[in-house]
Amino acid sequence: MKILVTGGLGFIGSHTVVELQNEGFEVIVVDDLSNTSLNVLDGIQNITGKVPAFEKLDLRDKDKVQDFFKRHHDISGVIHFAASKAVGESVGNPLLYYENNINTLVYLLQELQQKPEASFIFSSSCTVYGQAEKMPITEDASIQTAMSPYGNTKQIGEEIITDTAKVTNINAILLRYFNPIGSHPSAEIGELPIGVPQNLVPFITQTGMGLRNELSVYGDDYPTLDGTCIRDYIHVVDLAKAHVIALQRLLNKKNTAKVETFNLGTGTGSSVLEVIYAFEKVSGKKLPYKIVARREGDVVEAYANTDKANNVLGWKAQSTLEEAMASAWKWEQKIRK
Ligand code: UD1
Repeated sequence: MKILVTGGLGFIGSHTVVELQNEGFEVIVVDDLSNTSLNVLDGIQNITGKVPAFEKLDLRDKDKVQDFFKRHHDISGVIHFAASKAVGESVGNPLLYYENNINTLVYLLQELQQKPEASFIFSSSCTVYGQAEKMPITEDASIQTAMSPYGNTKQIGEEIITDTAKVTNINAILLRYFNPIGSHPSAEIGELPIGVPQNLVPFITQTGMGLRNELSVYGDDYPTLDGTCIRDYIHVVDLAKAHVIALQRLLNKKNTAKVETFNLGTGTGSSVLEVIYAFEKVSGKKLPYKIVARREGDVVEAYANTDKANNVLGWKAQSTLEEAMASAWKWEQKIRK
């Protein structure tokens, strides 16, 4: 079966392409290469022995999207990763985010609604929960007002898909990711942040390599055990596997609603200091860091209740924080050689 993966050369996309190919799916990747490079195809080939079909395509170009689907009328399912994801950038340039993340979604769904049936997997985020009242977070926790245009595009995206699925032949699964980290254990593919990383783990590994002087820990006066924020860090390979299982659920018509939502996390919260200690343990290096002021917009804690993903989807994260940090470190060392 032929599966379209948009943004398939990005961090989570590339790991998902590997797992799809491992499961025997025929994959076609589209990517505009705005935040990745063609070399990722080599990494995928080195792991799976197979290079996926690839087209450079900017999904904001509606004519090109239409043309793409005319040429590939045999696509059975779509996993849609292509989107911009930098929270700070979205605050400064909201229209870029609405255009990149919303227009593209509408164009894709317009093509899919013409098919007799279509399976659609959407990359959403735990950011839709804001600071949830109760931990761990279940899928029926209330959606909070988005704190950034980026977060808003995930909420609006979920709504657009839900409204559309109701009246079309599209079946969809919304996957709300907690904090994806790590890389493929082979270190053939991984995260490639452009410029100074905004996310914790790439900043840590770059500091470990000496590319950054020290990590700033954003606040140690939160109401948590050690005062630093709590997140649910999930190994990207576990996350990628969840996409394949979600897709198979739709293709095999095992879904019980037109749109289903699943949290993808480990169910365990880790503090910033715990992530640092895990890095120090697996790398054998002392990480230079200092405590600075809180970062605006950070929630105190966010970790998943994974019961629904475990019991309904039939998926469970396998890797530990240390395994994820070891893979992130292996990747960082490889790309700096
Ligand atoms: C961030 C986004 C979130 C997005 C996700 C994508 C914000 C506020 N949230 O999540 O919307 O879906 O990335 O991956 O940007 N930290 C430090 N020092 C650093 C970097 C981070 O102490 O240099 C801390 C943060 O305060 C936070 C934790 O590390 O407590 C994780 O931060 P990060 O990796 O940026 O992820 P989120 O903020 O959870």
